[in-house]
Amino acid sequence: MSANPEMLATADPALSERFAERIGGMINDSAVIVMIALGHRLGLFDAMGDSDRQTSPQLARRTGLAERYVREWLSVMATSRIVEYDPAERTFQLPPEHAASLTRSASPDNLAVTARFIPLLARMEEPIMACFRSGEGLAYDDYPCFHEVMAEDSFQTVVCALFDTIIPMVPQLQERLEAGIRVLDAGCGRGLALVEMARRYPCSEFVGYDLCAEAFEPTRARCREEGLDNVRFEARDLRDFDEPGSFDFIASFDAVHDQADPQRLLDGIARALRPGGVYLMQDIAGSSHLENNMAHPLGPLIYAISCVHCTPVSLGQGGPGLGTMWGEELARSMLESAGFGHIVSHKLEHDPFNVYFIASHDERPRA
Ligand SMILES: C[S@@+](CC[C@H](N)C(=O)[O-])C[C@H]1O[C@@H](n2cnc3c(N)ncnc32)[C@H](O)[C@@H]1O
Repeated sequence: MSANPEMLATADPALSERFAERIGGMINDSAVIVMIALGHRLGLFDAMGDSDRQTSPQLARRTGLAERYVREWLSVMATSRIVEYDPAERTFQLPPEHAASLTRSASPDNLAVTARFIPLLARMEEPIMACFRSGEGLAYDDYPCFHEVMAEDSFQTVVCALFDTIIPMVPQLQERLEAGIRVLDAGCGRGLALVEMARRYPCSEFVGYDLCAEAFEPTRARCREEGLDNVRFEARDLRDFDEPGSFDFIASFDAVHDQADPQRLLDGIARALRPGGVYLMQDIAGSSHLENNMAHPLGPLIYAISCVHCTPVSLGQGGPGLGTMWGEELARSMLESAGFGHIVSHKLEHDPFNVYFIASHDERPRA
């Protein structure tokens, strides 16, 4: 199959040229994003963010990396105007305004963390092509370092905002956590938010369930070393989650749409809450209807992550493949079907990717 030459002949040349320029720009920018992710992982931005002008050999020495590769990386950064280049001195500098978006000390505003999703998507080209042909899905361990990339991202959106923004959103939650309650993180991944809460609220008990033990294993090991004994993790397929009246507060961070059976999980969560309990669901901000997402600033990225990750991991478990952009309308109606009578949603300034639903059975949750 190829485009019909008669149809091509009807194309407006000016529009064609503008479109080709746009695609050329996108190709250029995508190459830069891959190099940004690499620079983040190798600590190159961090080594530039806290120092003045450096030559390529100086940066190579500081980072312990091979100079020939560092020089080539710096050339990408210079030609894309991410770093400034002084040809007389052959020095490079990361301006402070750029360091504010690309270094670890800029966290939670470090966009290099989000950039990591792009090479991760690209590495999946072959298996995803096979999925397009077969209609089948994939397993989590088909994805190289997914849990690591996810944890770095949710550290910025969830952990960094946990105590100042997210917990205070839920009425009386902080007081009840201090007094001592039972908490579940459903689909906890690395479980970093859970551990932060366990440290801060020693009277409460924290449980993290996730399909993939390798996601939370490094965190569990750290908790053991630290002697943190009010948090535990368990490898669980939440498709049959059913622990009635067991928890006072349940959270899920960006996890429901990936599940084998999202509706059954929500039903189970509704049953698992004790009287006065609350469910906090962080999930993707957007509409269930494509036509409403046409102006969504992150629309292409979210649908791409959906196509290459969220849809296949759900289909791979025999799930419905809701996709990342399952949307707020569907999310709300599924929460209602689960029996939640009181649902409010919040958008938080620091996290444009997500919406935060607070769902309870009672009008006035106690947490
Ligand atoms: C997008 S990740 C989010 C992880 C974590 N909450 C975070 O914010 O970093 C979705 C998580 O859901 C888990 N998950 C997917 N299907 C599951 C299932 N059937 N049962 C339990 N967990 C599941 C995955 O293993 C993964 O860790």
